[in-house]
Amino acid sequence: MESLRLELSKAASFLEAGTIESYLPQAAQALKALEEGTCPGNDFLGWVNLPGSLTPEFLNDIKQTAQTLRQKCDVIVVAGIGGSYLGARAVIEALSNSFQWLTNRGENPVILFAGNNIGEDYLYELCDYLKGKRFGVINISKSGTTTETALAFRLLRKQCEEQRGKDEARQVIVAITDARRGAARTTADKEGYKSFVIPDNVGGRFSVLTPVGLLPIACAGFDIDQLVQGAADMERATSSQVSVEQNPAALYAAARNALYLGLGKKIEILANFQPKLHFIAEWWKQLYGESEGKEQKGIFPAAVDFTTDLHSMGQWIQEGERSIFETVISVEQADHTVLFPHDDENLDGLNFLEGRRVDEVNKMAELGTQLAHVDGGVPNLRIVLPRINEYYIGQLLYFFEKGCGISGGILGVNAFNQPGVEAYKKNMFALLNKPGYENESKAIRERLNR
Ligand code: PA5
Repeated sequence: MESLRLELSKAASFLEAGTIESYLPQAAQALKALEEGTCPGNDFLGWVNLPGSLTPEFLNDIKQTAQTLRQKCDVIVVAGIGGSYLGARAVIEALSNSFQWLTNRGENPVILFAGNNIGEDYLYELCDYLKGKRFGVINISKSGTTTETALAFRLLRKQCEEQRGKDEARQVIVAITDARRGAARTTADKEGYKSFVIPDNVGGRFSVLTPVGLLPIACAGFDIDQLVQGAADMERATSSQVSVEQNPAALYAAARNALYLGLGKKIEILANFQPKLHFIAEWWKQLYGESEGKEQKGIFPAAVDFTTDLHSMGQWIQEGERSIFETVISVEQADHTVLFPHDDENLDGLNFLEGRRVDEVNKMAELGTQLAHVDGGVPNLRIVLPRINEYYIGQLLYFFEKGCGISGGILGVNAFNQPGVEAYKKNMFALLNKPGYENESKAIRERLNR
């Protein structure tokens, strides 16, 4: 089976010869530390050998649960945030028909996402849409106490029970949470919901290949065996058994650190030319941002959808501050054929494209953009996917995870914690007068009145 490819030449040309390679010994060391469990955060390395260790029994349990939900529900709401949300959405959107929502003919349930914001109107409109519908809920929270998810779950559970009755609701509510702790676990055990465990040693942003990602993806009708197979093949291709010069994840980590530490390129822009990949970039932003952005260090991960954003962010990328590099996810083959149409009047002057595939135009836009951005001083990395399907998306997910673990090691941070995300929660609870936060509430109000 083919593999995704990494092309570095348009980044290497910005650096002295051999610079990227000079980071490979550090990449090899970081990889060894991941495999041997000797790096900081080593209690969260369960993702490293995860794809290759998933058993057919485990995958069948997920598939059977998905089948039950698919039979009993026209709509499935996936409640979760951050690592308990983005992986599932990224894969489902990448693999779905772009107009699934409108063209759904009943063969697949509509998959919706909640618990990832505190928008009152969003929740109102969601509950309104669900009125009278046969819907189910997948409640995903490792801690079981995340405000956004808990709020959505309270509303959804109540509505589901009201609409379907408690007994039937029990059959269409599934919990994915910690094995022992947290509100989601307690409720699931008490109510008798089907539940899956998020392993202790897998952090949220590395959890897409646990039930967190796999159950929603299976519910959407996609082949999780192929997804896992792609990831498992990439696990092998990026292990220390492979020479580091041939390891795409190590090369990616080496290149981005060479650009960051060597050239001061502080922002990495992940670009795609396929709108379906928008949420892959959202997932990637969390993976790299939450893993590397600490101790006042870390590349800022940004993302654009091309060619759409060439008409908005293109100017900045071409001529703004030269603190950026670009990583393009390039898809070799489109799944469908659309030919550029003829127009008798040819007022737009585009008849020279008549009969040519739209994907050819897209590819030339991609190549033209790469050349322009390189001319404008933007180093360019390319990740080439043969096509968008479960297998190659599985490869891509694991490639980015491994690249992230190695990159964090080169940077010298603990890539597996996220101490910074607590700061806003503490203030929010103090402002909302949560019991136990009396001192913080007083201090924060004094600060606001100053
Ligand atoms: O990556 C992470 O750890 C976070 O993004 C969490 O996944 C997110 O905060 C949700 O947490 P939980 O699953 O505990 O609700």
